[in-house]
Amino acid sequence: MRAAITKAVNNDPPLRRRGDRYDPRLAPVGVLSRIVGDAGLIVTAVVVSQILLAFFTAVPRNSWIVVGIESLTNSGPLLAGTLLLFVLAANTLMGVYGHQRTFALAEKLLWLGLSTLIGVVAAGVILFLTLGVHALSISSVLAAGLLTLIILPAARWWSWAYRLDIKGAEYRYDLAVRRRAAEKLLAAGGDDSTTGTVLVIGGAGYIGSALLPRLFDTHDKVKVLDVLMYGKETIAPYLDHPKLEIIKADYRQLDQLVTAMQGVDTIVHLGGLVGDPACAWNESLTVEVNLTYTRVIAEIAKASGIKRFVFASTCSVYGASDEILDEESGLHPVSLYARSKIGSERALQRLMSPEFAVTILRFGTIYGFSGRTRFDLVVNLLTAKAYFDGVITVFGGSQWRPFVHVEDAAKAIEKVVNAPVPLVAGQTFNVGSEEQNATLGDVGRLVNRLVPTATYLDSGIDGDRRNYRVSFYKIREELGFKPDWTLEAGINQVLDALKAGKVTDYRDPRYSNVASLKELTDRTFLSTAADDARELIYAGDEEYRMPARLDDERVPATTDGR
Ligand SMILES: NC(=O)c1ccc[n+]([C@@H]2O[C@H](COP(=O)([O-])OP(=O)(O)OC[C@H]3O[C@@H](n4cnc5c(N)ncnc54)[C@H](O)[C@@H]3O)[C@@H](O)[C@H]2O)c1
Repeated sequence: MRAAITKAVNNDPPLRRRGDRYDPRLAPVGVLSRIVGDAGLIVTAVVVSQILLAFFTAVPRNSWIVVGIESLTNSGPLLAGTLLLFVLAANTLMGVYGHQRTFALAEKLLWLGLSTLIGVVAAGVILFLTLGVHALSISSVLAAGLLTLIILPAARWWSWAYRLDIKGAEYRYDLAVRRRAAEKLLAAGGDDSTTGTVLVIGGAGYIGSALLPRLFDTHDKVKVLDVLMYGKETIAPYLDHPKLEIIKADYRQLDQLVTAMQGVDTIVHLGGLVGDPACAWNESLTVEVNLTYTRVIAEIAKASGIKRFVFASTCSVYGASDEILDEESGLHPVSLYARSKIGSERALQRLMSPEFAVTILRFGTIYGFSGRTRFDLVVNLLTAKAYFDGVITVFGGSQWRPFVHVEDAAKAIEKVVNAPVPLVAGQTFNVGSEEQNATLGDVGRLVNRLVPTATYLDSGIDGDRRNYRVSFYKIREELGFKPDWTLEAGINQVLDALKAGKVTDYRDPRYSNVASLKELTDRTFLSTAADDARELIYAGDEEYRMPARLDDERVPATTDGR
């Protein structure tokens, strides 16, 4: 093992850990393999049960093998056939094969046990009713049924435990390799993580405005490339900071992007259209700004020799799931926003190399006050509603979300950019803490406790299908990340800011990403490269102009270049 670790360190650490990522295209294969596996287990249960029965009941005692084989030849096919038919049918009808993936283990075992019991009882009833027709004994039926009932859930549990063990072993090995490489780098004095120039794309936003002061402390120079959708005021306290350089530009302007990257060692990419509603507003704009240009930025960064690339993704990629989700869990996106992030993650994973260290941070839902506080996020929104309107209206109160304070999100980025490259290269980290996995109802009730004069209203279910609880073991274990804030402290912080008059109208579009986007007057930002291309192709040729776009809310494309 030691030799293997040393070898791997010398050859650069593996950039990606193998994981059982869920691929929906393979779902039918999964279902089929579970059915085939269960069929094999049922046949095994019949064989073993009849042999065991013969072993304990055969007279004379030493004839048990002959008796067992005889009993199997006579009644085995009937027993196995009936059990196969009824148990597999019951399991299929109860959705055991189709939805297993999204069940928590206990739930999985419960459903499987119940449906197998139904199948076994149904098969038993049929066999008992026809006992006179064939030469089957009651004890044979009971033994086969009982073993089937035990063996199916036991096999599921074993496969879960086995995979967990394999995953755990892989994880420990991978971590040991990375730690070794990091130590080696530190010992050789080759770690330049806390110096150099960092470029924060989207650095004037909610997270960016909290991140900048942290980077001033650790880096020689901090550049911000931002189209300043929410103005410069968001980073007003730092505008005169000697280490700060602001490039006001859309990162789709390649000349500006390339200039911004000059002399840069690390990129933190926080830019883009953020949140489900903002992304749903215009699909092509979202795909271009969030996905296409994340890829373009990373490709240029890699070609320019930039060593580190930290990308802000989201726990929304997990979508709807009842399991506790870690970085290796399957992704079930329920919005274009989440899909654009998954697409970006994949594009970045393809670009990873020993020279280009990509780290993906999947943030929980953020709350708290920063230079650009958002009131389109649930904790801040409920707090503002409670304070200004005297009501806390919660939709989909039973949905789980992981929450993290904006300062803690900034702290996690700081940790990653300051960590030795081998520890974070090629890694994905969930950012948050298990203590702050909470239901929307929990959040509403907490806000209500802190603003007791407000009325709590549970408005039942919501169209938002996101529901996920997340594990933060990895970032805690590997980077020693623990949040400084709690939900209660964050809500109090927002309340204090509201009481101090820092926000007078939380409904102002500048506090909401989708509202800001709809009010945006910068037509260049709203048009996409496809619009530009269309303009070029059909310029002066009205007859052949492409049909008008469906999303009429869009501002018409412009011909001025970017
Ligand atoms: N806030 C959250 O709850 C949350 C949760 C998970 C992940 N994230 C991710 O973290 C990142 C930052 O989120 P945030 O809440 O600070 O968002 P934000 O909307 O406050 O900030 C985004 C910034 O990007 C800039 N920007 C957008 N498009 C640009 C372009 N084409 N060129 C240049 N600048 C552009 C905007 O001007 C803005 O300053 C995003 O990638 C987001 O997906 C946020």
